[in-house]
Amino acid sequence: MKNIAILCSGGDVSGMNPAIKHFVEYAYARGLTPYFIYDGYEGLIENRIEKATYQDVAGIINRGGTKIGSARSKRFTQKEFRAIAKQNLDTHNIDMLVVLGGDGSFRGLDVFYKEHGIKFCGIPSTIDNDISGTEYCLGVDTALNIIKNSIDALRDTAASFSRAFVIETMGRDCGYLALISALTSGAELCLIPEVDYNLKDFEEKFKRQRAQGRKYFIAIVSEGIKQDPREIAQWFEESIGIESRVTILGHVQRGGNPTTYDRLMAYKFVSHAINGLLGDKTNSVICCTKSGFAFKSIEEVAGVKHRLDTELISCLEML
Ligand code: F6P
Repeated sequence: MKNIAILCSGGDVSGMNPAIKHFVEYAYARGLTPYFIYDGYEGLIENRIEKATYQDVAGIINRGGTKIGSARSKRFTQKEFRAIAKQNLDTHNIDMLVVLGGDGSFRGLDVFYKEHGIKFCGIPSTIDNDISGTEYCLGVDTALNIIKNSIDALRDTAASFSRAFVIETMGRDCGYLALISALTSGAELCLIPEVDYNLKDFEEKFKRQRAQGRKYFIAIVSEGIKQDPREIAQWFEESIGIESRVTILGHVQRGGNPTTYDRLMAYKFVSHAINGLLGDKTNSVICCTKSGFAFKSIEEVAGVKHRLDTELISCLEML
């Protein structure tokens, strides 16, 4: 029997556990022996590698996070540690890897493949949805739903107290989470790193809306913008004349019960990854494109700067 392993690297997402479950079950179905590598590349270097059983993945499909842990590893960027990683894989006879992570994680893996011939397939997994070459990254839908529920709850209190709420989403340098959330939660303001803004430009409109009876405001700001959300709250108070509060959603966006969509995407990503590795795919990332799933090279994924869809950005003008 051939051996295949899975690991998670970088920020965890809800959807990793469903992916791990399907990995184990589908690997056995395809005649492979599945292995877990705990705590990302760090665990690979430390030889935290164990054979996986059906029992290991029972009852995890509904859980956020990752049963096998994740980490950001600096050591894997060094040749000497990659050599140790290869030795560890050899002791378990593993020559195929499925990696759930971001573009940085895949880049290191490609070097590893070129040095040591360990085949891999990357599965784009980050709530930021900022990986080039794929329309969708695992975990995004669950994060968006958590943000939606949080905004709905904040709207209740914003309306009761007639306040402006400045709500910060994650996303690193990408405004995707903030933008989609603003469009789907009826926000009045959305600030993202991709678009320059001047708060002054909103003053006349917001004051007019206040005069016409608007009682509260919802402002969604991405963590990647240059301004502190407290300054935006202060602007609401001083320039628009409405009491305001700031809510930083933070890591709550990374956890929680995976949505149906993320469970389904986990299933599809993993099936394609294993099928690809059993076929002729040696070092690729399985991407979700407008025309279906496609294997892409590291150059296409990690070598291209991610750009937020311009059509989506143009929706900002309609807020
Ligand atoms: O990349 C996912 C992400 O959640 C970003 O949105 C955020 O900026 C970062 O990770 C937070 O990282 P950490 O969990 O190390 O604080």
